[in-house]
Amino acid sequence: MTQHIIPLAGVIGHPIAHSKSPRLHKHWLKKHGLPGDYIPMDVKEADLEQVIRTLPKAGFVGVNITIPHKVSVLQIADLVTDRATLIGAANTLIFRKDGKIHADNTDGYGFISNLKQGAPGWRADTGPVTVLGAGGAARAVISSLIEVGAKEILLTNRTRPKAEGLQAEFGSKVRVIDWVQAGNAIEDAATLINTTSLGMEGQPELRVPLDGLQRGSVVTDLVYTPIQTHLLKTAEQAGCVTVDGLGMLLHQAVPAFERWFGIRPVVDVETRAAIL
Ligand code: ATR
Repeated sequence: MTQHIIPLAGVIGHPIAHSKSPRLHKHWLKKHGLPGDYIPMDVKEADLEQVIRTLPKAGFVGVNITIPHKVSVLQIADLVTDRATLIGAANTLIFRKDGKIHADNTDGYGFISNLKQGAPGWRADTGPVTVLGAGGAARAVISSLIEVGAKEILLTNRTRPKAEGLQAEFGSKVRVIDWVQAGNAIEDAATLINTTSLGMEGQPELRVPLDGLQRGSVVTDLVYTPIQTHLLKTAEQAGCVTVDGLGMLLHQAVPAFERWFGIRPVVDVETRAAIL
């Protein structure tokens, strides 16, 4: 393989224009005075494999993968980490020197690191963890919660069979609550996580009853447009510890950047400012 002086990375999705990852990685490259670049790539499903197989030949050390390719990319990779297999999706590819493509998923890592940074002292086993939503993001959240010791996860989703599917996969620590009963699951929660797209700009508002929120409980929202969602605002007013979703995006990028460029970056106020 050709030896390139400037290592390249990027993000592949469809669409891709709104991705914040280029700004983030470029900020860290500049901060650490590293040679390199990070490029957004809009790639259709039909072209995905061909593009991925070509990139290492063009000086790429890896790429992030985003919607809608996170699942199908597993078929293209030569090696898939345990956590990516468990989540059933990958968000990071590493192009190894031996030509093999390594797929990983750092979303769960990013989720937990963000919670720990935003709510110091947070533990998964202090009480029930309520998860709203049972889509792709919920899979990463639930598997990482179990990994860090959650004992009871109350899972509620509009389409109940999807929650039941995750329950069957992740086992008895997950209990399915009907979506109409979400308010009860929120009342019991020591930690509350919104993994649905509700509350996102252009999407309907999250309309589950929030009056049962416990003072002192930890509330986080994966939605970060807007950063202060209705859920987070209400939780703050109720005396909860709130953690916004932007941090998850920043933290999930840390292990990838380290693998590609050789330095482990830190997520701080400056990092947030760089992408806002
Ligand atoms: P992601 O990968 O971000 O999790 P997803 O897999 O499409 O995206 O999942 C979206 C989640 O938001 C799902 O839990 C979805 O509920 P359904 O499984 O019932 O579709 C939830 N969601 C989206 N729109 C919703 C709405 N209007 N009301 C309730 N839940 C909604």
